[in-house]
Amino acid sequence: MADHNWLGGFPETRMRRNRRFAWVRDMLCETRFTASNLIWPIFVIEGNNRRESILSMPGVERLSIDLATQAAERAASLGISAIALFPVTPPEKKSDDGKHATDPDNLICKATRSISKALGSSIGIVCDVALDPYTSHGHDGILVDGYVVNDPTNVILCQQSINQAKAGATILAPSDMMDGRIGEIRKALDSVGHQDVIIMSYAAKYASSFYGPFRAAVGSASNLAGGDKKTYQMDPANSDEAMREVALDLSEGADIVMVKPGMPYLDIIRRIHDTFHVPIAAYQVSGEYAMLKFASEAGAIKERECVLESLLAFRRSGATSVLSYYALQAAEWLRA
Ligand code: PBG
Repeated sequence: MADHNWLGGFPETRMRRNRRFAWVRDMLCETRFTASNLIWPIFVIEGNNRRESILSMPGVERLSIDLATQAAERAASLGISAIALFPVTPPEKKSDDGKHATDPDNLICKATRSISKALGSSIGIVCDVALDPYTSHGHDGILVDGYVVNDPTNVILCQQSINQAKAGATILAPSDMMDGRIGEIRKALDSVGHQDVIIMSYAAKYASSFYGPFRAAVGSASNLAGGDKKTYQMDPANSDEAMREVALDLSEGADIVMVKPGMPYLDIIRRIHDTFHVPIAAYQVSGEYAMLKFASEAGAIKERECVLESLLAFRRSGATSVLSYYALQAAEWLRA
């Protein structure tokens, strides 16, 4: 600290000089958030012209493919960079081994084809790689004697990835937290000529209780039946471990690494940014959305200001992009 005498002190230094007018605040602004930093998660359901509201996420809807395609068009017109699709799989299509994940006619593939046909390369299409939408037990992998087995899960994740890449996914986002899956998926994609698909790995994904509303939205909460994912997702107490996870995923071929949840984990984003100098996506998850939404509805906070501040905070911490259920609304606010 001894060298910091040049910072001066009061009264020579008055920090408020640089805050006196809007123009100087704008001139010295260190971080900006724009629509191009946004990725919008969309829940997809079967049927036509169908929309369903989600009790724990007011303002977020499950959409049939035609409406999801229109929503993607609206997102693109607002300058949002990518959408992330999550399927609500009908219960009768779920099984112990989650095999429906590899069906070229499953909901996610049909939605991907529809959106990529309508929008071409004007918006990124992110498909989640994990088995939880498809398993009857709600876990992200194959369950043997109550334990999610790693290597057999990777085999099916590779098939799922190829399936989604063939449907037109431009970004694959493995959210399952199996060991070694990034390398395996990269090899699998290469072997079928999809070497240009971006892998955005959920590298530091925590076993978080903030995912509650998402699991209700996609209907995996009841499958999971009170179980947790602590044998594969990370302990919220850990930070060094996140650094190892990121290093491994990068060495296996990840193009973008993700931290999830978002706001309670800004310190993790900052560490990854300072150490690895790679693109980082942050996921403002369903529980974070619910906190902002319900507090706004209760009149406790101003929604627009608080949401935009939360998004800016991600950028300040070092995130390149942010997945947010507020994406569409935020892009509209940013344009206004
Ligand atoms: C599933 C997955 C989850 C989320 C994204 N992909 C839930 C989980 O791991 O149980 C959570 C997203 C959110 O809470 O908004 N692999």
